[in-house]
Amino acid sequence: MTMSVNIDWNNLGFAYMDLPYRWRAYWKDGEWYKEGLEEGKTFPIAEGAPALHYGQEAFEGLKAYRRKDGQIQLFRPDQNAKRMANSAERMLMPAYPEEKFVEAVVKTVQANADYVPPYGSGASMYIRPLLIGVGDNIGVSPAKEYIFTIFTMPVGPYYRDGLAPMPFVTSKYDRAAPYGTGASKVGGNYGGSLLPGEKAKKAGYGDVVYLDPATHTKIEEVGSANFYGIEKDTNKFVTPKSPSILPSITKYSIIHLAKERLGLEVEEGDVYVDELDRFAEAGAMGTAAVISPVSRIDHGDRSYKFYSDKEVGPITQKLYDELVGIQYGDIEAPEGWIVEVPEK
Ligand code: PLP
Ligand code: COI
Repeated sequence: MTMSVNIDWNNLGFAYMDLPYRWRAYWKDGEWYKEGLEEGKTFPIAEGAPALHYGQEAFEGLKAYRRKDGQIQLFRPDQNAKRMANSAERMLMPAYPEEKFVEAVVKTVQANADYVPPYGSGASMYIRPLLIGVGDNIGVSPAKEYIFTIFTMPVGPYYRDGLAPMPFVTSKYDRAAPYGTGASKVGGNYGGSLLPGEKAKKAGYGDVVYLDPATHTKIEEVGSANFYGIEKDTNKFVTPKSPSILPSITKYSIIHLAKERLGLEVEEGDVYVDELDRFAEAGAMGTAAVISPVSRIDHGDRSYKFYSDKEVGPITQKLYDELVGIQYGDIEAPEGWIVEVPEK
């Protein structure tokens, strides 16, 4: 495959890039119309659009990977389609039909295929589907018109140091309420996380660890990823269970791999912050974060240290190799996890 674009693939961060094509679809009077690829990163919306005022919107994040043989593949796009439909339901929006969603992702990646980073660069193509309520409105009521779009860009590691361990810190702020929208991928959860996220980054931390909003005693999740710990002695993979965290597709994939391929015991349950000493390793997992090891979590005047602040723990490394091996097509995937993107 000859690349016709001039990009330093090995040094990409997680940053916006304006690629030639994006998918757009418009909804009015109960149906989707004008669905297809468009050029141009901007589009006009009405000043009263409920997405702008009342956060009536939902988004997704998934990736396309280039295999050693040059073929491009997607990792579990049907799961993103399903989660976006759930988010849309919570926000009283019409979902983009799940099969059409996957097909639209395929077509958008295919149209921008020159920008899918080469195998071996460690980079991938990030795909951002977005659904917004638009049209004239002022009261707190759902939109009568919607726009669905999918745009893409090549990205490198989300966290500054990629697979190098980073310190995280707990926050006195919450990202979601007990019966709020924490389990949906909607903008409001992230708007409220900007302030604690910025404070943490300025203090040298990789990200914020949120605690459960009802009691502030249990780990909830990380700003942009779910959390796991590997229990000392048992090597059990432990990850929080909560109705107010985002159901991470990466997490459920890793749970499957931990059980089926690594033979680990897995527990989704309560992770009390004052019991963090039970873990030998800890990490964050998500589409953008992939698997990012956590070196320590600071909580008030306590500091909980994990495997190392320089090296990756052995179980974290095994999980990473298995997951990333599947995503880049080096290791056989469980059935139904991979969707190939045909050449134009
Ligand atoms: N939690 C939050 C708050 C996120 O933003 C993300 C990223 O999408 C995740 C968890 C991980 O989810 P996934 O593995 O589906 O990307
Ligand atoms: C993702 O991993 O897709 C995320 O959404 C994380 C962040 C970029 C919001």
